[in-house]
Amino acid sequence: MSDKTGTAQIGVVGMAVMGSNLARNFASKGFKTAVFNRTYAKTEAVVAAHPEAGFIASETVEEFVDSLEKPRRILIMVKAGPATDATIDSLLPHLDQGDIIVDGGNTHFPDTRRREKRIAELGFNFIGCGISGGETGALLGPAMMPGGPKDSYAHIGPILEKISAQYDGEPCCTWIGQDGAGHFVKMIHNGIEYADMQFIGEAYDLLKGAGLSATEAADVFAQWNTGDLDSYLIEITAEVLRQVDAATGKPLVDVVVDAAGMKGTGTWTVQSSLDLGVPAAAIAEAVFARAASGSTSLRAAARAALQGPDGVISVDDREAFIADVRQALWCAKVIAYAQGLHLIKVGAEEYGWDIDVAACARIWRAGCIIRAKLLDRISNEYAAGNLETLLEAPSISAELAASNGSWRRVVARAAEAGVPIPGFSSALSYYDLVRADRTNAALTQGLRDFFGSHTYRRIDKEGTFHTLWSGDRSEVEAEDTH
Ligand code: 6PG
Repeated sequence: MSDKTGTAQIGVVGMAVMGSNLARNFASKGFKTAVFNRTYAKTEAVVAAHPEAGFIASETVEEFVDSLEKPRRILIMVKAGPATDATIDSLLPHLDQGDIIVDGGNTHFPDTRRREKRIAELGFNFIGCGISGGETGALLGPAMMPGGPKDSYAHIGPILEKISAQYDGEPCCTWIGQDGAGHFVKMIHNGIEYADMQFIGEAYDLLKGAGLSATEAADVFAQWNTGDLDSYLIEITAEVLRQVDAATGKPLVDVVVDAAGMKGTGTWTVQSSLDLGVPAAAIAEAVFARAASGSTSLRAAARAALQGPDGVISVDDREAFIADVRQALWCAKVIAYAQGLHLIKVGAEEYGWDIDVAACARIWRAGCIIRAKLLDRISNEYAAGNLETLLEAPSISAELAASNGSWRRVVARAAEAGVPIPGFSSALSYYDLVRADRTNAALTQGLRDFFGSHTYRRIDKEGTFHTLWSGDRSEVEAEDTH
């Protein structure tokens, strides 16, 4: 027993920027914080740089675990994947029953489910906690999405809630559901983040097409940020567009290579939507747009071969056009939220999680990357009624009804001018698809029945039917083959 034994209320493993900033956040809220990194030099550097935090540093895992009060609370902030498993394996031999491990990385939720099951069987608690807000959020208050055994939340929740962002005095952290629920919700947060960013990019392309410079577009985004579109991503868009490259004197956005990176969370969201059969095409378009941006040889071949309008939009009334783009951006954004939240609802049913969709929107109101004024309204709408889709919420459907004329004009102008807007147009098609009385799926069923006897149901009577296409084309009752 050393004089450090049992003195720390929380321990953080992984002293890269997210881990060290979260550790500093815990310390700044008055929690005695133990820190550990595989390479001790890194721990020493963090401790030396932040004497005010009063960190308890350890060189070995044993010492680190020993320095924590029981039940121990350990937050792992390492690169998601094998490093997470390796860290868990290094901790397990030193833990006592009831200790809590929290994985704060961007972990794929099936991995969290697997780990939670294994760790629960050993008598420990495992929480998969989505954390959003980047480096600054980690230090000053992120949005936190913990999932795992509910009774362990009593030991860890209040601490997480204390370091999370606060919105109107409410913490942006709540227990999301069992096992992988927290990482599932964080994954979808990121899918929405991709869509939000794609829509912003499309709005910028449209403004550019109408002749606005980067600085003028920055002013437009800054202005939009004062109204309904008020959000972190719109705010920083203005900042990025205003940035001038020191080397060339050009707007930075003009000298950055137009190929967007991605680390996988957007792709996972789309994979999940496919697995669960949830239409989330606007989010998918955002992922595909990033993939297209990085498809260098495809783009080079197509650029050389394909012709069409050059992306210039001639506008008579610039202010009216800008107002239309603003409405289109708002509408598309609502569709991305609707698709993401629907995915949460269906995922919760599939995996047996009791997820409160209103609470998800509520904890996204501050701290996270998609924080936006709109989320306050969305959380209120979900709290007010059991919505199948966000789009049926009265205030949302009314505003979509009022704005969809602008949205259609923008999509049509973009198509005429050759400005690629896969997000805006996909979102608009979703709007029209889900509100349609009849979809073209009836014809699809006819075709499937024609070539593969896949059968169909009728609108006017119960049962499953097949038309004898190669015979006399009469209709017979048939076994449902889907
Ligand atoms: C957040 C962010 C964060 C990270 C993304 C970036 O919520 O704080 O989503 O998790 O910035 O993973 O993802 P890409 O590299 O795939 O754009």
